[in-house]
Amino acid sequence: MRRKIVAGNWKLNTTLTEGMDLARSVIDLLKKGGGGNVSVIIAPPFTHLTEIKKIIGDEIGLAAQNCAAEKSGAFTGEVSAEMIRSAGAGYVITGHSERRHYFNESDKDVASKVRNAIESGLQPLFCCGEKLHERERSIYTEVIKKQIQLGLFDLPKDDFSKVIIAYEPVWAIGTGKNATPEQAQEIHQYIRHLVEEKYDRNVANNLTILYGGSCKPSNAGELFSNNDIDGGLIGGASLSAEDFYSIINSF
Ligand code: PGA
Repeated sequence: MRRKIVAGNWKLNTTLTEGMDLARSVIDLLKKGGGGNVSVIIAPPFTHLTEIKKIIGDEIGLAAQNCAAEKSGAFTGEVSAEMIRSAGAGYVITGHSERRHYFNESDKDVASKVRNAIESGLQPLFCCGEKLHERERSIYTEVIKKQIQLGLFDLPKDDFSKVIIAYEPVWAIGTGKNATPEQAQEIHQYIRHLVEEKYDRNVANNLTILYGGSCKPSNAGELFSNNDIDGGLIGGASLSAEDFYSIINSF
């Protein structure tokens, strides 16, 4: 069954104490009700995972924001998918545009991170999306197709079924300028079509596709009301428990 998901990507924000407070506030709001059939996930910095797991238990899913392309060895500063799993997380974001662009992650790196995640028992939250000049030149479907083919389509069907995709147009991330519901729906439908062609209709129908990029309480409802938009990957607005809770209740 296709899941509705709202995931918060905290990026490089919050100290451990601030992160624990934020997680507690989200849990407290969820206890008031709402969010019924929505899976909520938060992705704090690596250093917070273990402590935050103690706060959220199984009520909220826990994700890391990245994992190593390698499994182990002499790679100073890297954190492996297996380490993340052992810290209590169930998910990992892979291929976020900030990783692709600021840290030069290639499609090959992302594919290897996805494989490691699945082998370690994590569900990858795979991000894809075009830059502004690619949208302006109307080559955005080709860009997204290539990212998905190279990042995901080597997976056998059973493994692909564990993947969650987030469409995040780069020009909408952190800019305050979200994709219109029509623009987002067009791409989500296109991604589902690619997956149906590669695997089958059942896999495509069950795939959760999130929208990310300046998603906030004021636009989440309109975005989530589209057939192929199954929730959101939320950056800035996930740093406010109230805004995040309001997005969770936007379906
Ligand atoms: P934003 O970030 O909501 O701050 O635009 C989204 C993301 O990068 O996942």
